[in-house]
Amino acid sequence: VNVILLGPPGAGKGTQARMLEEKFGLIQLSTGDLLRAAVAAGTEAGREAKAVMEAGALVSDEIVLAILKDRLAEGDVKAGVILDGFPRTTAQAEALDALLSDAGQGIDAAIALVVDDEAMVGRISGRFTCGGCGEGYHDTFKVPAKSGTCDKCGSTDMTRRADDNADTVRERLKAYHVQTAPLIGYYEAQGVLRKVDAMGEIGIVAEQLAGIVGSAT
Ligand code: AP5
Ligand code: ZN
Repeated sequence: VNVILLGPPGAGKGTQARMLEEKFGLIQLSTGDLLRAAVAAGTEAGREAKAVMEAGALVSDEIVLAILKDRLAEGDVKAGVILDGFPRTTAQAEALDALLSDAGQGIDAAIALVVDDEAMVGRISGRFTCGGCGEGYHDTFKVPAKSGTCDKCGSTDMTRRADDNADTVRERLKAYHVQTAPLIGYYEAQGVLRKVDAMGEIGIVAEQLAGIVGSAT
């Protein structure tokens, strides 16, 4: 199964993708994570992407597709993927359709996480991530059992993202509405769109997603 999680910054794509990964043995593919790894590694693509990401704009389709293709070539993705933060433009969606059909596959569900923009600024400004294993947390909504220590791996190395300030979040929301929201119609036309109310608690949203992914497997 191949599943796309669509939604604005803070909608819970990363949080839910990691839960689906554990539950269904799928692989989470986050172009945001891949780009941040390229920035950290100082590759040419990473150097180009850094300023764009810090401004809250979208990185070029060319760079994103190159990074995604490299990741797909690693070959551990055969059982299926949960795409988190990709595609984000119509050109990326068309490129993905071509890549999947070359591999004799398709998209089983494109799930739109429906949220209120206003609430996203609060979600994102409270977010932090474990540097050890990548688990995501929130100051209010997902607090580790022991303050400052990862529940999953015990690391105390917690980080906050450079683009998680209120001004950049507003730019990211704008980019989402202009460049990415049209994909809802794109997948509706393909008959694979599902909508989920993602304003509820993390566990409730997760149950709804598990229902959709479970019936697609
Ligand atoms: P990316 O890394 O994809 O970030 P994003 O889309 O802005 O999404 P976020 O990671 O901020 O949010 P999320 O939906 O994953 O929410 P999360 O689960 O963490 O992209 C970053 C940048 O990279 C882009 O701006 C762009 O520059 C570039 N980029 C990436 N992909 C690209 C592409 N394909 N093309 C071009 N450029 C690209 O949740 C947020 C917080 O809320 C967490 O703290 C969480 O614990 C909490 N939370 C989650 N769900 C709930 C809930 N139901 N209730 C309460 N709290 C919740
Ligand atoms: Zn951890």
